[in-house]
Amino acid sequence: MAHEIPAFAGMTEESMETRAGDPGAFAHFDLGRVPTPAFVVDEVAVRRNLAILADVRDRAGIKVLAALKAFSMWSLGGVMAEYLDGVCASGLYEARLGKEEYGGPNADKEIATYCAGYKAEDLPEICALSDHIIFNSPGQHERFRPILDAARAAGRRFDVGLRINPLHAEGEVAKYDPCQPHSRLGFPVNQLRPEHLDGISGLHFHSLCEQDFPPLRRTWNSLEPLISPYFNRLKWLNFGGGHHITRADYQREALIAHMREVREVSGLDLYLEPGEAVALDAGILVGEILDVMDNGMPVAITDISATCHMPDVIEAPYRPAMLGEENDGPATRLGGPSCLAGDIIGDYRIGPDPQPGQRIAFLDQAHYSMVKTNTFNGVPLPSIWLWNSDRDDLRAIRCSEYDEFKRRLS
Ligand SMILES: Cc1ncc(COP(=O)(O)O)c(C=O)c1O
Repeated sequence: MAHEIPAFAGMTEESMETRAGDPGAFAHFDLGRVPTPAFVVDEVAVRRNLAILADVRDRAGIKVLAALKAFSMWSLGGVMAEYLDGVCASGLYEARLGKEEYGGPNADKEIATYCAGYKAEDLPEICALSDHIIFNSPGQHERFRPILDAARAAGRRFDVGLRINPLHAEGEVAKYDPCQPHSRLGFPVNQLRPEHLDGISGLHFHSLCEQDFPPLRRTWNSLEPLISPYFNRLKWLNFGGGHHITRADYQREALIAHMREVREVSGLDLYLEPGEAVALDAGILVGEILDVMDNGMPVAITDISATCHMPDVIEAPYRPAMLGEENDGPATRLGGPSCLAGDIIGDYRIGPDPQPGQRIAFLDQAHYSMVKTNTFNGVPLPSIWLWNSDRDDLRAIRCSEYDEFKRRLS
């Protein structure tokens, strides 16, 4: 029986539990095959997730877009296009990336762009790239109508949507709950009036985080009476992300039945835009121990930095699962090479006598880690590797270089 290691002293605020952490084929991956730090993503695991999402899409009769904010390893853009209907973007840059790398061989994939606050100078290009442009408030939509009208007059074809806030909180941690009090994300649904839907083809809501189906059902039950009077004026509804659809215990049949029912009752096209579910348990972050000392407990410096490479560890906070962590024995506190006192990953059982040069790997790091890396303290970015666990084919996709640090500064 593994003994739980308590969160370290700095982790006193409300913290998240990660529900993924299945090593899958990584249980047999030799950590010595890559320089460190390195993200290694298993294409087979990504395809397994995509196949599940495509199956849900087909049986529910909906569309599924991949949220680039969670996982933008664009070398897999063609693979994603084989399965899904397109991507959702958080603004101009992700919309561009979607168009350039995720369009599929016929360049016919959809791009839905939602941004809490657009800039006038970005909108013409966003109109050219996007199939759906989703606004955060009727006020913003109204202000930018002339730009939208000009884009249409120039031949651009896109739908305009409005993100609503269902005002129904299901989040376990306020930081990740768009329905927290005074939230800036989405127009409060209790303020929605018919005139706000002038020029609007769809409603969008996103209020879940790593959740199973029942929170979605409860959200829908509270939201539906407020928006159903508008169904006959709309073309589509977008149910956002936060659905942990590819997790083994997710109630997928219930989700499929629910989406079919909503589609029949509303007569609208339905969208889901999961991010995390696309890359769940599909990648690891490999690192190396650089030094070990004792300060009341074994303390090790690693070339993985929480603040630079896995900022959610500090932000959420959460304790990432470690590949092959031992069940018993003394724990070693692991932290990054940066100057930040709080650059602590957590306390892990990595053996009774941890040594410099020892390799370690954290599980489930493909999503929301690679997209959030930074070079604070000049800490190198992890290189990125694509592994096909079926063929045991390992390819370097990007190697970290000094230039990446320098060109972001001046
Ligand atoms: C608007 C929107 N759509 C989709 C997502 C993807 O969510 P997840 O990665 O939790 O599935 C997010 C995440 O924050 C989001 O804000």
